Amino acid sequence: MRKEQNELLTQSASETPGGSLLRQFWQPVALARELTGDRPLVSVRVLHESLILFRNEDGKLGLIDRNCAHRGADLSYGRLEDGGVRCPFHGWLFDIEGQCLEQPAEPFETTFCHRIKLKNYPVEEHNGIIFAWMSDEPEQPFLSLACFDAPEPWTFAFKGLVECNWLQALEVGIDPAHASFLHRYLVDDDPTAGYGQQFRDVADMSNIPVTQLLRVYPRPEISVDETSFGLRLTAIRYLSEHQVHVRVTNQVFPQAIVIPMSRSMSITQWHVPIDDVSCYWYAIFTSIGDPIDQQKMYEQRTQLYELPEYRSKTGKHNNYGYDPLEQRTRTYTGMGDDINVHDQWAIESQGVIQDRTKEHLGRSDIGIIRYRRLLQSALANGKPRVAEAHNYSSNEKPVSIDIVLPALDWQSKLSEKLEDLSVQAQNVWAGTS
Ligand code: FES
Ligand SMILES: [Fe+2]
Repeated sequence: MRKEQNELLTQSASETPGGSLLRQFWQPVALARELTGDRPLVSVRVLHESLILFRNEDGKLGLIDRNCAHRGADLSYGRLEDGGVRCPFHGWLFDIEGQCLEQPAEPFETTFCHRIKLKNYPVEEHNGIIFAWMSDEPEQPFLSLACFDAPEPWTFAFKGLVECNWLQALEVGIDPAHASFLHRYLVDDDPTAGYGQQFRDVADMSNIPVTQLLRVYPRPEISVDETSFGLRLTAIRYLSEHQVHVRVTNQVFPQAIVIPMSRSMSITQWHVPIDDVSCYWYAIFTSIGDPIDQQKMYEQRTQLYELPEYRSKTGKHNNYGYDPLEQRTRTYTGMGDDINVHDQWAIESQGVIQDRTKEHLGRSDIGIIRYRRLLQSALANGKPRVAEAHNYSSNEKPVSIDIVLPALDWQSKLSEKLEDLSVQAQNVWAGTS
């Protein structure tokens, strides 16, 4: 890859092609849980912009500029009152649309405030995540994804800070080969004790732990199909003459993935640039079995992530917890059991913006190669695949699965199973299963 190409694909400031592409999609900007409590106001840094997100007394959300229109003081310290946020410097009051309502130090007769408006962006809340529309163009309808179809109790939302470019963070999610190495456990844990954890269940239609499948069969045959939502990746591991392990993951253009977590849960995850050298992942875990134990999921994740920044307690600052003895005896990385730490090490250690002029892609990198082509052509066209991405046909939803199938005719069995899964999900959520 040439240097200019790498820049084109990784930049996300508003004046860059990447920035304007990402702004044509709804962007996750906060977890709904961040806007609870006595003072529902958070500062948000997203796509190189500094904003505040707050709820007024009516519970309505506003996403507006962080710096006051008067003389630029920081509104994240503002007073939430009188239908908006009031700047503590001279008391200017702004509503959820950024309109200035009051300027209490100005003479009574002035109408100056009517002409003052801060930048604001429309926001929508969906199953625990607040999304913003950051383009001047009309808002697109929301993506039709299972994580939004599911009733809230069947979902759980969380996020995490990563200190590298968003594209690296996305690329690890479309790299089915890495799981056999980066997330290898030398010993299989009890699959029934892995609630809420990635790769801890057995594969569907088998009693083989996914950790074992990944460890024993490290050379997946990966195929990539272009779909109306983005890419579908199918990774096959031949277990014997009679059986194949199939893992289907999806890339939802431009910056999300839909992957299996266990037999009953999937993860939909977005990678959102803060700037070019840091990003957040936002995820909605979605169950097609029982409602999710949200308290347990929250406790598990806050063991690693520290609020309010959602920064990992194990990271670059403490060598990702690296322990050479553990690396010899228990895990491939020596960085503990949490796969989020493994992924974070992998992508942050590539450098804040990976220098792709120096890489050497192999055949197992096919997902990454195909995705970059897609992104590059969208950026070259200026007007990306918004229309397709927002109206893809309902029979082409990104469904993910991790399953063992008979080797004979596994393709048609897989199609049937994916179809069944979608129907099962709808029935479970409608309370009819
Ligand atoms: S800087 Fe905000 S009111 Fe003056
Ligand atoms: Fe990973």
